[in-house]
Amino acid sequence: MTGKAPIGIFDSGYGGLTVFQKIREALPHCDFIYLGDNARAPYGPRSFDIVYDFTRQAVFKLFEMGCPLVILACNTASAKALRTIQQQDLPRSDDPTRRVLGVIRPTVEVLDRLSRSKHVGILGTSGTIASCSYTLEIAKLFPHIRVTEEACPLWVPLVENREADSPGADYFIRKNIDAIFERDPDIDTLVLGCTHYPLLLEKIRKHVPAGVTIFSQGERVAEALADYLQRHPEMNARISEGGSVRFLTTESPDRFSANASFFLGEPAEAGGIRWASEGLNV
Ligand code: DGL
Repeated sequence: MTGKAPIGIFDSGYGGLTVFQKIREALPHCDFIYLGDNARAPYGPRSFDIVYDFTRQAVFKLFEMGCPLVILACNTASAKALRTIQQQDLPRSDDPTRRVLGVIRPTVEVLDRLSRSKHVGILGTSGTIASCSYTLEIAKLFPHIRVTEEACPLWVPLVENREADSPGADYFIRKNIDAIFERDPDIDTLVLGCTHYPLLLEKIRKHVPAGVTIFSQGERVAEALADYLQRHPEMNARISEGGSVRFLTTESPDRFSANASFFLGEPAEAGGIRWASEGLNV
């Protein structure tokens, strides 16, 4: 492998920008390419095979663009595609030293420290919850933690449609919060296992019992990535350090640029990337 290249950040659309915001704060010297598959978002309701297929295409496109390391800044893609890409596709690729990391493992790693009751709740898209990825990962690391998962399929549309602050949002948020605490009233740590949910934090807080920790994963994912680069100097040496960001979307770049600041907290000028039958064409 010659030359240095940006870190690739992938999400189904805009939500990954909430994670990327924290990654950029933690690693301001690194170069990044952010790819949002807005044309095919949301991934949450999609089947395992489809999410895997779309995610694999995007990851290999980022590899093709030179990225030696790709972060799946999306819970649904991490839940449904990460393992297969890591265990099957990467070892068979032309450069098996490239890496793909997700958001679930770093989130799970801190849960034993965060929870006193050892009862943890996970909120996510239908796809993430159906995969049981959080439950399985927690069982591996902390088998003494009891996990309750709740799919909140209407929360992403609430954010995407700018209804996060509306009274209607309270109804759906409360419904899922009540449901998860009815199933386990001893939950003391509630994980926002979806990139959009930090944008609903104020409303979620209103309906969650006092004393419960609500955990947004962005900072933790960023911290885990910085730590990974420190522990892997061979990968760190492959990352270019100009502090630049290139945003790419499979939908309209103008629309991405107009909407991105809502998720990122600052403007983002996007370029286009086009899907073709053989994969992605820049
Ligand atoms: N980024 C997705 C996640 O974190 C939410 C949006 C989607 O469903 O595509 O699960």
